[in-house]
Amino acid sequence: MLKKKVEDICNRQVEREGYSFILYLAMASWAEVNGFAGVAGWLYAQAEEEKLHMLKFIKYINERGGKAVLPAFKKPPVDFKNVQEMFKEVLKHEEFVTASINEIVALTLQEKDFNTHNFLQWFVLEQVEEEASARAILDKLNLVGKNNMYQFDRDIMSLRTPAGNAPAAQ
Ligand code: FEO
Repeated sequence: MLKKKVEDICNRQVEREGYSFILYLAMASWAEVNGFAGVAGWLYAQAEEEKLHMLKFIKYINERGGKAVLPAFKKPPVDFKNVQEMFKEVLKHEEFVTASINEIVALTLQEKDFNTHNFLQWFVLEQVEEEASARAILDKLNLVGKNNMYQFDRDIMSLRTPAGNAPAAQ
């Protein structure tokens, strides 16, 4: 049985993973209508991963005797200045999610909830990958420069790490 404090913070993460899903969908949609098909593909795929992250939390909370609560999500931005600025936002958002996961890990140690601590290890590894992936894209964007977005858009999918590289969660 989950302690209430742990249940609540896991539900907070349901909201954060769900917001990641719609944030990346909004970014994908912006990229699509602005002619960046490759960038859109990358972001749609990333959005799918975020949906799975949210689902992992929902199922875990329910399996442990808690009750997952689906929130109303904040409206994501509609417009982005350019692809570079958008990926800076992706990195910033992933750093925020990493900090959020770390807070849950810290709480599970404080509450001696070793089951949830174990469940979270998949997310700890996943966040290392997701931040690295966003940084690799920003490095690539700096290299190609603003004048070669065609090449960047064509190649971005080759920068994706395969989904589910982290060990399977329960
Ligand atoms: Fe599920 Fe990208 O954090």
